[in-house]
Amino acid sequence: MVPFLRILGIETSCDETAAAVVERDAEGRSNVLSDVVLSQLDEHSAYGGVVPEIAARAHVEALDELIEEALKRANVSLNDVDAIAATSGPGLIGGLLVGLMTGKAIARAAGKPLYAINHLEGHALTARLTDGLSFPYLMLLVSGGHTQLILVRGVGQYERWGTTIDDALGEAFDKTAKLLGLPYPGGPAVERMARDGNSDRFDFPRPLVGEARLDFSFSGLKTAVRQAAQDIAPLSDQDVADICASFQKAVSRTLKDRIGRGLQRFKAEFPTTFPATGPATGPATGPATGEKPALVVAGGVAANLELRGTLQALCDKNGFRFVAPPLHLCTDNAVMIAWAGLERMATGAAPDTLDVQPRSRWPLDSNAETLIGFGKRGAKA
Ligand code: KG4
Ligand code: ZN
Repeated sequence: MVPFLRILGIETSCDETAAAVVERDAEGRSNVLSDVVLSQLDEHSAYGGVVPEIAARAHVEALDELIEEALKRANVSLNDVDAIAATSGPGLIGGLLVGLMTGKAIARAAGKPLYAINHLEGHALTARLTDGLSFPYLMLLVSGGHTQLILVRGVGQYERWGTTIDDALGEAFDKTAKLLGLPYPGGPAVERMARDGNSDRFDFPRPLVGEARLDFSFSGLKTAVRQAAQDIAPLSDQDVADICASFQKAVSRTLKDRIGRGLQRFKAEFPTTFPATGPATGPATGPATGEKPALVVAGGVAANLELRGTLQALCDKNGFRFVAPPLHLCTDNAVMIAWAGLERMATGAAPDTLDVQPRSRWPLDSNAETLIGFGKRGAKA
């Protein structure tokens, strides 16, 4: 038996304004009662990226109504929720201020506890809501602002195994699209063009491939794409398609190498799960015996079918389960924030006080060093 908990979640760290209500019953069955997301994509697309000031204003304008809508769709009132969970970092500070202050005001007015949530923790724990995963597991977060491989040991226990030393993967897709004249966001456009392209035409670099460390680097790849585009300009549609396909292949090969090493390291750290025999070890040391270890993906880049295919094949080869939550829960949303609040409350953790402040930088793993160049757009997750 676990305590019945129902949480209102608020997310405003980047360009999505979101509110949601999530509950878990005494038998441990979770239920998403509402999930409201307002994307600001149209407001930013003319600028080719997220404009922080526009984002903050849009959050202010939309958030109150969105929260009302989330409560209405869930058919509950504030009295019926046990706590408020609001993203307090990392992200764009204007948006974080809007969401966290709103969360504080509601918590104060309704006399409910407040949980200030790390956005990355939201991404990290989503697979427990959607797939009931037990700890530990590996999580690959690939979005416009982050590229991180994280060991999720438990609620509040995260180890960053790898991160980008320059551009995030989504950023590399966006920049590649921009220099090829494709629309923002670039990922879907590059993927679409790549379908008709020859992926062997350009031999783009695969940064850090072969290195023992688990970090990523994508800026050299972007430079190589620019060079190739300049060399053969003016570009025909076929040229653009070939560049996109070759770019995607290089990314795919890079992920295969980096994540492949991550899976090996996981096996080395939790050997009791390989093979699935021997005494049960419990969640402190590894997945329950017989249960396959899992790799979870999150972030907008997880929508890419070629990359998904690569990761699925890699997991199959290494005896891992590949878990990709539904896309609307992979990208930014408030369900994951409500769920992270629920998980924290369920551990008996004390809520945050009302003087908690938003943090534009907030690594999940406080022991992880900051790498050079990391986080140019690190505000975005
Ligand atoms: O997680 P997300 O929606 O937003 C944040 O970054 O917070 O991720 C957006 C990123 C963008 O860089 C976008 O180009 C990329 O995800 N993306 C893709 C695809 N769909 C979205 N990248 C590659 N292939 C896709 N199909
Ligand atoms: Zn995110």
